[in-house]
Amino acid sequence: MIWASGWRLASAVSNAGGLGLLGSGSMYPEVLKEHIKKCKAATGKAFGVNVPLLYPDIDKHMAIIIEEKVSVVFTSAGNPKTWTKILKDNGIKVVHVVSSSKFALKAEDAGCDAVVAEGFEAGGHNGREETATMVLVPAVCKAVKVPVIAAGGIATGRQMLASMVLGAEGVQIGSRFVASDEASSHIKFKEAVINAGEGDTCLSLKQLTPVRLLKNNFFNQVQQAEQRCATIEELQQLLGKGRAKKGMFEGNMEEGELEIGQVSASIKSIQPAAAIINEIWNEFELLVQQPLK
Ligand SMILES: Cc1cc2nc3c(=O)[nH]c(=O)nc-3n(C[C@H](O)[C@H](O)[C@H](O)COP(=O)(O)O)c2cc1C
Repeated sequence: MIWASGWRLASAVSNAGGLGLLGSGSMYPEVLKEHIKKCKAATGKAFGVNVPLLYPDIDKHMAIIIEEKVSVVFTSAGNPKTWTKILKDNGIKVVHVVSSSKFALKAEDAGCDAVVAEGFEAGGHNGREETATMVLVPAVCKAVKVPVIAAGGIATGRQMLASMVLGAEGVQIGSRFVASDEASSHIKFKEAVINAGEGDTCLSLKQLTPVRLLKNNFFNQVQQAEQRCATIEELQQLLGKGRAKKGMFEGNMEEGELEIGQVSASIKSIQPAAAIINEIWNEFELLVQQPLK
């Protein structure tokens, strides 16, 4: 997750039994390299790097990932054909994030080892078709043979179990880890996440790249611009540069872009990443042993 998952969060998740991911989308190449090195020093366990494929300096990112022998790369926002073979030829597992069965099949075709089926309730960038996790996960499981990891709206053991019932073999959790001690996000953003209620997020900027945001003054400005049928250029100008950093990293709660999922409504405290994983895992195990009610 951009502006949230640096080496502290990724290593804490891996140390607690998950697969921590570094969010390279908000990092310059030399920053990514530093985070990979620090992550290696902080955990002996496997961790991965998420790479949005539209990142302008992607060649440099991929060269660093290969050089540093990162074991797994999660790609998103782009064509999986471009990088999958190169990464796999270098012994790296590749997982691609998709929002439809059509894109899942393309990822499988490109040689990806697994796909993340990310529903429309997820924080961050979303698919244009707006398919929710409950509908998307079984559809993607039916469409492909590679393992499916469910994402979007998962923050508890109960939701993890539900994902498994839908056919997923793993879950990718974002929003809940924004509200972790180790996330690099600004404390004001973490507090806004735990204070968010139902209906406080909305899919925005649909004409540019759809993204789920916490409602604030910036969000309202985008809404107003869209209502008066602003052109793409006007929306790009309104978005400007560095909006996401301003909100999530620098803590400007009114003028920044605040990416978070619907599930924020049920996140009530900022906790260490290990406590989050243990809580999810314990609830999952308890429910697995109980007969379905
Ligand atoms: C603050 C934030 C930043 C994110 N950045 C990225 C990103 O850079 N690349 C990506 O593939 N997904 C990104 N995501 C999506 C997450 O990886 C994950 O799929 C999503 O949060 C899961 O849904 P949830 O928020 O309901 O847990 C981001 C999500 C959040 C909340």
